[in-house]
Amino acid sequence: MSTPLRILGIETSCDETAAAVVLRDERGGRILGDVVLSQLEEHSAYGGVVPEIAARAHVEALDTLIEEALLRAGVTLKDIDAIAATSGPGLIGGLIVGLMTGKAIARATGKPLYAVNHLEGHALTARLTDGLSFPYLMLLVSGGHTQLILVKGVGDYERWGTTIDDALGEAFDKTAKLLGLPYPGGPAVERAARAGDPERFDFPRPLVGDARLDFSFSGLKTAVRQAAQSLEPVTNEDIADICASFQRAISRTLKDRVGRGLKRFKEDYAAVDEPALVVAGGVAANQTLRTTLQGLCDEHGFRFVAPPLQLCTDNAAMIAWAGAERLAAGLPPDSLNVAPRSRWPLDTQAQALIGSGRRGAKA
Ligand code: KG4
Ligand code: ZN
Repeated sequence: MSTPLRILGIETSCDETAAAVVLRDERGGRILGDVVLSQLEEHSAYGGVVPEIAARAHVEALDTLIEEALLRAGVTLKDIDAIAATSGPGLIGGLIVGLMTGKAIARATGKPLYAVNHLEGHALTARLTDGLSFPYLMLLVSGGHTQLILVKGVGDYERWGTTIDDALGEAFDKTAKLLGLPYPGGPAVERAARAGDPERFDFPRPLVGDARLDFSFSGLKTAVRQAAQSLEPVTNEDIADICASFQRAISRTLKDRVGRGLKRFKEDYAAVDEPALVVAGGVAANQTLRTTLQGLCDEHGFRFVAPPLQLCTDNAAMIAWAGAERLAAGLPPDSLNVAPRSRWPLDTQAQALIGSGRRGAKA
């Protein structure tokens, strides 16, 4: 590919409104302008994302954010080669806002539109940040998803494992809520755990030893609730110990589940010189989890790739990049009639599991 591509990306699938311009040339990718507006404050009073509030907030902010991203990139719409907008999975109101805006820009400028799967954005980010080659494994751990995905190529994914009930971020959020910690729960649990004793509670490690590569976290949440109830009233020390023990159970679960995935990758792709595991999603911010995955990768001879945090959580640079990858791979753009999809698995062959990604919407 000789000419550099400049892609405008739009992301509105959950509670972040984001726009970005990314460049892709023969040397790789570069972010030219990237803006993310978090709606955390709008939702925190409700202890979770309120879809209607999210959609309205996207409408209010998106146009300005797109202008800002173009400005930071030092380009105008004329310099853009294609528009990439998240069209699923996610909260339908937000998806409509972003996709319709993308369509309007595509129509007005005559440029092609790519309707991007949000999960594909997460899956391909490591090629933007670290220039990874296919195939590689990705662990996506966010508020709505917990999936182990084999990334074989652009548009070519195999889901090796998924949660059969709660997503990992959801388990953190629910644990925080029942311990009276603030939303979002992940950072609060991680903070509390620092002062805690990880050995005090022996919480369950669901599916450890199971031959499949799936995950389950709802039993862990129940065990946390029972522990907290048995101690009523809980002290700060109890909370710290519960959080530390909760994180320890998760580390052990991931070690087993992801460890099996790494082994399978080595068996199936013995010829890959430098196998890699990529982590993505908001839970990837967790230091205990990162240390566990790094150790696991060292043990199995894998390169561990954790993109910078602002690119692990929801952003539009990953959507622009996915559009650039699709364009560069010669995949056709989408019709302006394309519809947003609140559910849209990356691996369309994978069996739908009851409960998996129940919040469904979030990625
Ligand atoms: O990917 P993300 O920003 O948003 C979506 O889910 O779409 O992920 C948010 C999730 C929340 O459940 C939050 O509690 C969790 O990521 N999270 C963390 C940490 N920071 C965010 N979980 C554990 N430890 C953290 N430090
Ligand atoms: Zn996401």
